[in-house]
Amino acid sequence: MRSSNERFQCAEAIVELKGELVYKRRIEKRYRVREIDERIRKERTKSEAKIISEARRKGVPTPIIVDVEEYELVMERVDGNLAKEVIDEDVSERIGEFVGILHKNGIIHGDLTTSNIMVGKDNRIYFIDFGLSFIESSTEARGVDVHVFFQSLKGTHESHEQLKESFITGYKRTFSDASQVLKRAEEIERRGRYVER
Ligand SMILES: Nc1ncnc2c1ncn2[C@@H]1O[C@H](COP(=O)(O)OP(=O)(O)O)[C@@H](O)[C@H]1O
Ligand SMILES: [Mg+2]
Repeated sequence: MRSSNERFQCAEAIVELKGELVYKRRIEKRYRVREIDERIRKERTKSEAKIISEARRKGVPTPIIVDVEEYELVMERVDGNLAKEVIDEDVSERIGEFVGILHKNGIIHGDLTTSNIMVGKDNRIYFIDFGLSFIESSTEARGVDVHVFFQSLKGTHESHEQLKESFITGYKRTFSDASQVLKRAEEIERRGRYVER
């Protein structure tokens, strides 16, 4: 049986899951001047569609984009669970492999948490929510992506240190600059701890 209809509202968008499809509509921000708000929403909608398709072409599973309107993306619905709910060492290692492929190809996810990755009923890993993605090949941008992922692991019940190690194994397998990025991710974590005090 197909999952039921659901609706999510976040700061940027309304996401509606209806049957086989997902409608992600960027909502008006009243604090922005109207012309600027419209331009930003159009640009982000187009850019998200482009990067989702680009990632897929490079071999990273993402939902198929069915339609792109001015402010709305229509995409295939992934039948499965959020990584957050089902992550184990095998899943984390495969996530690492795909993040390595994204980074190798100059794609930064921009919000790489276990709530933006799904594990399908087909047991494939799907990356969703490219709303904050961008094209960049700097160690810093890659390091932030990895750091954000590691932070998101801390909320899971499995030992997050183990999950982190599995991710690293996968990430190194597909991405030759992995060590440099992992070092930067550690630095970012230290910086963060320092700032929080
Ligand atoms: N293609 C999809 N298939 C299944 N569920 C999805 C899909 N896209 C989004 N969702 C669900 O909707 C939630 C919100 O979508 P997301 O793109 O992450 O937007 P945001 O985090 O900006 O609200 C996700 O966490 C996920 O539960
Ligand atoms: Mg999200």
